Amino acid sequence: MAQLTDSYDRKIDYLRISVTDRCNFRCQYCMPEDIEFKDKSEILTLEEMLTFAEACLALGVTKVRVTGGEPLVRRNVVWLVSRLKALGFEDVTMTTNGFLLKENLEALVEAGLDRINISLDTLKPEKFAFITRRNHFQKVWDAVMAALETPLSPVKLNAVAMRGINDDEIVEMAKLTLRYPMHVRFIELMPLNGDTDGKRFRSLFIPGREILERAQAELGDLHPVQKEDPAAPADEFKFRGAPGTFGVITPVSEPFCARCSRLRLTADGKIHPCLLTDLDVDVKPAIRSEDPIPAIHEVLWEAARIKPPAGVTLPEESRSRTMSQIGG
Ligand code: GTP
Ligand code: 5AD
Ligand code: SF4
Repeated sequence: MAQLTDSYDRKIDYLRISVTDRCNFRCQYCMPEDIEFKDKSEILTLEEMLTFAEACLALGVTKVRVTGGEPLVRRNVVWLVSRLKALGFEDVTMTTNGFLLKENLEALVEAGLDRINISLDTLKPEKFAFITRRNHFQKVWDAVMAALETPLSPVKLNAVAMRGINDDEIVEMAKLTLRYPMHVRFIELMPLNGDTDGKRFRSLFIPGREILERAQAELGDLHPVQKEDPAAPADEFKFRGAPGTFGVITPVSEPFCARCSRLRLTADGKIHPCLLTDLDVDVKPAIRSEDPIPAIHEVLWEAARIKPPAGVTLPEESRSRTMSQIGG
């Protein structure tokens, strides 16, 4: 069957499935404290998500990332991971906030999870409580350390960079890569979560280049690391002799849309062809139809067709959405 491609000849081989819009944290840049989650009746079952993934696999999608909200708050998500692996995806990965990770590590490894990315914006417990509005630093840090002892090592750590909030920790976070086999990446803040006038964004935003310069100024030589996957968004570097890498993800200052290979499935059954626009296509009716695979294929081609070209900027009306609804 033909490989899924979009109107600009970008190969689509990476699916992100948001298994839930719920989360046990309330990160300031992601969602408000009083967020209203979708009614459970609107959310796809894991079996339906699997059917969708199977249809993607037949069109040449080889990588799938399980996200949220927080994926580990969804019951039986480990089952989904094992079924995705059994279907034949080459790379099955997860992005988690780490809170429920430690107790799930063994099962995730057994299910065949290939890699894990953990969100951690700070190494200071009080600041962690300020950013996530939950006082759970130690539990997350313990999970990070435990993950390093499993086949999921090296793990990736994602930190959203915010001026005046965690930029004083750029060097400490970079130093982790000297000590542990970790890939630490700072992500440029994107103006989402109701930041419609972009005011909060402008006061907090730090460009990736500045982060790299500040780490290099303190810690010396940073060498670029060749990417395994040219479509991967992070630009990665290594300090001399370090077991880990340090990098930046720059969706704002240097967008990577020209090499984007992704589609996203939301928990309520919409395909989002791009993180930066409101475009979506409802695939739930196709998933629930008599003969779902060909019906899903039709919707997948439609979603790929409307995937916007490189160079889109986040329209103001999109900024009211929360990242947790789309899956980051
Ligand atoms: P791997 O490189 O496969 O490990 O994963 P990843 O870096 O794509 O996944 P992760 O979930 O760790 O994503 C890190 C962050 O990069 C996301 O939370 C977003 O902030 C940003 N990001 C990921 N994909 C996109 C995208 O398609 N467009 C934009 N603008 N930003 C993205
Ligand atoms: N800007 C950049 N990254 C964000 N994330 C959530 N909201 C934002 C935002 N406004 C990141 C989280 C996590 C991933 C799933 O999305 O830190 O690493
Ligand atoms: Fe939850 Fe992740 Fe959003 Fe934080 S960024 S509230 S951990 S979904």
